[in-house]
Amino acid sequence: MIAITGANGNLGKATIPFLLQKVAPTNIVAIVRNPETVKDFKEQGVIIRQADYSDYETLKQAFKHVETVLQISTIEVDVDTAKQQEENVVNAMVENNIKHIVYTSMVQARPNTIFQGTETQYHTEELIKKTKIPYTFFRNSMYMEAIPELIGNALQTNEIRYPSGSGKVSFVSRTDIAEAIANVLTENTHQNHTYEITGNRAYTFAELAKLISTEMKYTDIEDTIFREKLISYQMPVEVVDLLVSMANGIKSGEFSYIDNTLEKLLGRKPLDLNEYVKSLQNVV
Ligand SMILES: NC(=O)c1ccc[n+]([C@@H]2O[C@H](COP(=O)([O-])OP(=O)(O)OC[C@H]3O[C@@H](n4cnc5c(N)ncnc54)[C@H](OP(=O)(O)O)[C@@H]3O)[C@@H](O)[C@H]2O)c1
Repeated sequence: MIAITGANGNLGKATIPFLLQKVAPTNIVAIVRNPETVKDFKEQGVIIRQADYSDYETLKQAFKHVETVLQISTIEVDVDTAKQQEENVVNAMVENNIKHIVYTSMVQARPNTIFQGTETQYHTEELIKKTKIPYTFFRNSMYMEAIPELIGNALQTNEIRYPSGSGKVSFVSRTDIAEAIANVLTENTHQNHTYEITGNRAYTFAELAKLISTEMKYTDIEDTIFREKLISYQMPVEVVDLLVSMANGIKSGEFSYIDNTLEKLLGRKPLDLNEYVKSLQNVV
């Protein structure tokens, strides 16, 4: 059986329909905190199990009789808590003799990155390697689908105000990643590989603005101004820190890496940013 953690999140729920094209629903286990969120998968015959990354016992039960796991990285922002949660998932997989772990990491994951989110994911990669269980790491660049959140109200104002300077991002489609993950979960040739999953090109935010509309401009703002704006939205300080670190990471090129692995995994060209932004234009 193939289990997917975070199965009700954007990437998990995009992966399951691709998996259903390859394996019977009774061979798929959707692991979620709240089973109410995946009723539609249950109706299709997918097995639903409840577990929380903070609760080892629930994870241990959820991985029973599973061979392959897609471990979706946590969204917890506190690094110590996030590391503990992911350690719980890894330990529960060891306990259940899992045969293949597919883990969602960050593009070019390594120690001491500016973007804080990478620290947990690199730490988890190392934990998984230590278990000796065959692994496949999907080191994803930034999702195209995150662009609306990144650019704020730019579709209304025709201006992207963001502190990323001339840093580039190799935006990648989350739906393409989901399809590639489903391929990897059901094929036998990906064990012990680390895949950098990126778009075919990287774009500065000025280039992104021009792609969205010839009228749209990009303004590079100070990260202190960006921070003040986020604080004014009553965001928790840890989330503000994470988002500022993301902008600084982009500025220093941490999301600019380009690799054609995704094209190989899909057997076709991945979605181009040009195509994706057309869906944004339809929103205006
Ligand atoms: N590359 C990128 O641009 C990018 C952007 C955002 C996130 N990410 C990372 O990639 C992962 C997948 O992306 P996504 O778009 O699917 O994120 P998402 O939509 O936020 O989904 C996250 C999933 O993780 C689950 N989860 C979080 N904490 C959990 C816990 N303590 N126990 C059990 N499940 C928990 C969530 O369950 P609930 O619904 O119960 O919260 C949800 O199903 C994210 O989790 C994040 O680590 C990458």
